[in-house]
Amino acid sequence: MSYQVALVPGDGIGPEVMVHATEILDAIGDKYDHVFNYVELEAGGKAIDSTGEPLPADTLEAAQQCDALLLAAVGGPKWDTLPGHLRPERALLGLRAGLGVFANLRPAALLPQLRQACPIKDEVLAASNPEGKASFDLLIVRELTGGLYFGKRGRIDEASGGHSPGAAFDTETYSWTEIERVLRAGYDAAKVRRHKLCIVDKANVLESSRYWREVAAVVSKDYPDIETSYLYVDNAAMQLIRAPGQFDVIVTSNLFGDILSDEASVLTGSIGMLPSASLGSPADPLAKNGRPMGMYEPIHGSAPDIADQDIANPLAMILSAAMMLRYSFGLEKEAKDIERAVNKVLDDGLRTKDIVNRSSGGANEKVVGTKEMGAAVRKALEE
Ligand code: NAI
Ligand code: MG
Repeated sequence: MSYQVALVPGDGIGPEVMVHATEILDAIGDKYDHVFNYVELEAGGKAIDSTGEPLPADTLEAAQQCDALLLAAVGGPKWDTLPGHLRPERALLGLRAGLGVFANLRPAALLPQLRQACPIKDEVLAASNPEGKASFDLLIVRELTGGLYFGKRGRIDEASGGHSPGAAFDTETYSWTEIERVLRAGYDAAKVRRHKLCIVDKANVLESSRYWREVAAVVSKDYPDIETSYLYVDNAAMQLIRAPGQFDVIVTSNLFGDILSDEASVLTGSIGMLPSASLGSPADPLAKNGRPMGMYEPIHGSAPDIADQDIANPLAMILSAAMMLRYSFGLEKEAKDIERAVNKVLDDGLRTKDIVNRSSGGANEKVVGTKEMGAAVRKALEE
């Protein structure tokens, strides 16, 4: 098969890490007989410099034509003084909206090689792990284009405390369609994982949360092989630290997902390790071959403080490419192979600076740069 992949290398360390993602994809192409064609696009700071706009119309159009979008990171101090609507980050919002990607998937797994990066004790981790290991592997699916962040908001003119407007409000609104499609994205993800899905809400208080449960009661019938459970968000925040091993897939609203995914990321170590996927619906006009349109990016930013020094960790970017294979192309075996190769280089003790074990002073570890890490993953794939 051949696939059209839109690329936004972006700013700062973006281009440095992106080059390794495409090299790895090419290696996968050679090994499994796929062809990946790349369409390199400008967005963010680079686009501002060349066109004056963070997301030129032709960039969005070209991305919509492709099967998926890989984005490294955009932004940096050079553009920080621009007004909001002209800032590089606008490109992210424009791409998410323009590609219709409403389900944000953020895996958080503790790799045994980076065990020291997680502040939770072995016995605490092991107690909730189904195999009794001091480890966890969960996926947060955050609704990305609705809820509190997109609801009606405003100020109320009535005076309060001698001030007028004397109050402000935000509202949480979720439609059946919005809830159903993100739940389905969660269930589809659970199918290729451990078949467990936990809905996190505040149904003891919020009407919108009770509505989520009504939708879930209907949608879950289509996934009889997946175990559905519910948790209130305050309890979920506690359970993530107390017993992260109990979770497989968590599906939640925009607000709760924003908070819980940051909480979960701290359990895994470096920001340089964490990929993400934002998916549309397989029924959307932009979907290809029954697979959702997807935008794949590391969760880190453009890290201007370490740009052009060959020290950025390319693994979050490489693992984002693996997520693309899994969710947009249905290439599960190939995605797993990339993850295996990343595991192998970590097993071999290779570490970029951000993942060196500080407590052991890096004993049995070899500190490598961006290029050496990328090349090692590629070599591990070919083995
Ligand atoms: P950041 O994620 O770029 O950096 C935070 C810290 O983590 C820095 O110390 C950085 O050196 C380190 N870091 C990040 N990625 C790393 C990697 N792959 N390997 C090793 N270390 C890594 O966040 P920050 O500093 O808040 O933002 C920098 C710029 O990136 C800003 O202009 C911001 O707006 C933009 N940004 C863009 C995002 C995107 O394109 N999706 C997301 C977050 C920030
Ligand atoms: Mg956040």
